[in-house]
Parts: sequence; C-alpha cells; structure tokens
Amino acid sequence: MKQLSRRHFLTGLAATPIVIFAGCSGGGNEPVRASPLRQLPIPPIAESRIDANGTRHFELIAAAGAAELVAGKTTATWGYNGSQLGPTLRARRGETVAFTVENSLPEPTTVHWHGMHVPARFDGGPLQSIDPGDKWEPTWTIDQPSATLWYHPHPHGSSEKHVYRGLAGVFLVDDAVSDSLGLPGDYGVDDVPLIIQDRRFKEDGSLDESDSTDIGLLGDTIVTNGIAGAFLPVVTERIRLRILNGSSGRLYNLGFEDFREFQLVATDGGLLGKPLLLSRIQISPGERVEVIVSIESGTDSILKSFPIDDHGGVGRESADTFGFADTFDILELRGKQRLRASPELPAVLSVLPKLDIGRPVVERTFEMRWFMINGQRMDMNRIDFASIVDTTEVWTVKNVDNWPHNFHVHDAQFQIVDIDGAPPPPELAGWKDTVYTPPGQRIRLALRFDEYTDTAQPYMYHCHMLMHEDQGMMGQFVVVESGDRSAQTLSPPLDTSGMNSIPAQHEKHH
Ligand code: C2O
Ligand code: CU
Ligand code: CU
Repeated sequence: MKQLSRRHFLTGLAATPIVIFAGCSGGGNEPVRASPLRQLPIPPIAESRIDANGTRHFELIAAAGAAELVAGKTTATWGYNGSQLGPTLRARRGETVAFTVENSLPEPTTVHWHGMHVPARFDGGPLQSIDPGDKWEPTWTIDQPSATLWYHPHPHGSSEKHVYRGLAGVFLVDDAVSDSLGLPGDYGVDDVPLIIQDRRFKEDGSLDESDSTDIGLLGDTIVTNGIAGAFLPVVTERIRLRILNGSSGRLYNLGFEDFREFQLVATDGGLLGKPLLLSRIQISPGERVEVIVSIESGTDSILKSFPIDDHGGVGRESADTFGFADTFDILELRGKQRLRASPELPAVLSVLPKLDIGRPVVERTFEMRWFMINGQRMDMNRIDFASIVDTTEVWTVKNVDNWPHNFHVHDAQFQIVDIDGAPPPPELAGWKDTVYTPPGQRIRLALRFDEYTDTAQPYMYHCHMLMHEDQGMMGQFVVVESGDRSAQTLSPPLDTSGMNSIPAQHEKHH
C-alpha cells in the first residue's frame, strides 16, 4: 500500500469511434448529440495507509500526462496520480490525515483542500507553493460534518491554467450522521461523483487556452469526470450524484428536459436539514451539490445544463458571451431493465445549528468590482485583516459591477444570513463555502473561524471564477487569538480609493 500505483483510470476507453462536438458561445449553442457515448469514468478511491498512530496517509503526485477527453483525440493534460483529475480522497470525521504531495510538473503548484477546516499552513493557498521536484506534507485532524469537498491547485496567478489542464479531485468526508441515513452510498454504483468542466480544443486535440472571456476560459465541450459524451448505467432505483462545478467560469443550471424533480440533499459543506424537491439547480464554479435522482427501469434520462434564466443584473449581450444561453448534455443515465430497490429517503437529514449573530459581532464588507475586492487586487505580501478565533463574524458581500462573480472563503463553512435583505432560499440555507453573487446583489454571511490560529500564514477569500482569482480578485486574512494586538494593527479600514478605476483589459496570462 505504501507505493501508489500511478493509476491511469481514464485509459481503457480508447477504442471508441470519433465523436464530433460542436458548439459556439453567443446566442445559445446547438447541442450536438454525441454518439456513441462512452461510459462515465469513476475516479478511483485513493489508496491510503494507516500508521501505528491511526493517521491515514495519502500520496498525491501532480504530473503531466495525456488523455482521451474527446473520443479519438489525444489531449495533453495534467493530473494527480494519473493523466487527469485525481483519485477520490475519503476520510472520516475525527481521523487525522497526512499527505505527501509531490510536484512532478514543470512549474510550481499548490494543493488546496477546498471546503476543509484546516490549519492555515496546510491550507494549500498561494503561499504553500511546491517547487518542481519538491514535496509538501500537510496533516490535520478532520473535524467537520460529512460533505463533498474537493482539492485543486491554488498557485498565485495560474490557478485557472492548472485546473483547466486537469488538476482537480473530490474529497469525501464521512461521519456518523451520513452513515445513519441510508442514502445511496455504494461508491461508483449508486453514489457517483460528477466533476463537470468545460473545455475547448484545438484541431490537434490540445486544449485551447486562448481567448479568455471576461469570466475566463469558456469551453464549448462539456467533460464529465474527464470525458465528453458520457453515459452511466444505473442499477438502482435511486442514484446519488455528488456534483462539482470544476469549471473556470461557467455556471450550470442542471436538471432534466421534462422538469422531473430530484432531491437536493447536500450543498458545499454538508447535508441540508431535509431533502429539497427541485427540478433545476444552479451551480457556479467551485460549488457542490448532492442530488438523489429516481430512475425508471429500462429508461434513459439525460442530465442537462439549461440556460441561466435569471441573468440577475448581467446584460443580455454579456449573458450570451458568458455562456448563459447555452444548453449541454452532461450525463446520460441509463436505467437497467431490473433495478435494485433503494432505501426510502429520510425526512430529516441533519440538524443545522444556526450561528448566533444576535450578540455584537465583527462586521466586514467586501465589494467585488472588476478584478478587485474593496478596491484592491491580491498581494501576497498584504494581509487584509485579522479575525479572532472562535468568534462569529458577519460579512456583507456586494457585487458592484456588471460581471457575474462568486465568493469563496477558506477554512470555514458559512451560513447565508440574507440576500438583499430576504432570507436565503432553501437550497442556499445549508452550509456553504462558495456562493454566487450576481451583479447588484448584497449577500450577508455568518461565519466563524474555529480552533486554528496563525499570525503569519493567511487564509484566502476570493472570487472562484478562476481567471478573476488569478487576476487578483482575492484577499488574505489571518486568524489570531483574542489577545493578539496584531488583530488591530493588521485590519485596515475599507479602502475605497481606486474603487472607480477600471483595470485595463486583463493581460493574457497563459
Ligand atoms: Cu477552491 Cu481558494 O479555492
Ligand atoms: Cu477553497
Ligand atoms: Cu469574479
């Protein structure tokens, strides 16, 4: 178990005929049915070894490879322990995990545990850069509810490129609550991770990294778990899809053509209070949802992404350039003739504790505009503020320009207090670490940074549209003890100078 075999889990899909995918952004693409489809690859559960102290050890190696994203075409990719994406990491609440992360790429990278409560020095942000040939060994004890988290690179200024080339994987946290519910849980059978990304290809099959839009690289081809045109044979009455939007800047509005309902059971940070019947669910880059879909025997149904109807302050024309009008097939679910019975869904999933914001709390404001937050672009040498450990804060996040953005915070899961003064809709009422912030909207978040303090190593908050993040739409904060005077000296007043300056067209960064 010590030595990890370099699994190329996407090989073995080679002998399929060529599928042509067409599409264009602007005014809605023409969905082209890919046929024949290929079976959805399931990222393997990462091998791990438990030492004498009970610590669970994983190894990750980031390296270049090649994969058949589109059938019949070979594409140069980057991946963890394989040609693209990475194995599914899985651990239980209460377990101590330890990683050896090796960088075999030609340039520095980092590995960030998105959604994880983790000491700042092991968070994998821009400061924890791993040079080519080097190793990094983070370790922490998992203490948060069961959830579908993920891991991806976070190198300063080039996260979009690293993720786009294939570096991303799912990190599942299990606990007693998730064990007790009887949700579909047979990994790869009725409990399936679905990493949704968009890609563009050049004639020769290589990834097209040119022509970024104002929200980053927008692809015309959807890849699910690394392939375009995927189907999944389903052998059970119900299937749980753990969906991750692993795209740079694309939003997805997921559902089925016939508006059939599915149950939303979890969002970024874990289970909802109770299952929520929906026929559409929208996710922005970095967000996750877990849905339970009922399958009819002998019937195919296609999970699709539909146009984003609610432009929320984005003008019609920009909405088209941002891909809001596009329709895509994501995954064809093929119900077998005979389906195994699935347990009934429980009426209650979890008890969501409400963060208490009644007592005096620290309030902070974050204005998102172009490539800036509060008028400033990311500077690795600047700490924007210090939070006191184990205290609840309320953050007001406002998108004050006309681009779509979202807002992600490291280390903690937050609760949405209100959106433009109104309580959040039920799909946004659970634990979140990333939230969509359309133009003009004002969202208040309640959050607390527990347990870990570090006066030197910061956590990040940022727009998770990866090009925006790379361009500097990110800030840094530290979490300190209450008596620590650096809390005052580090926290600058809201700087609004430069709020009205629009940065020049962003440099091409590839
Ligand atoms: Cu998923 Cu700071 O990132
Ligand atoms: Cu993160
Ligand atoms: Cu943004």
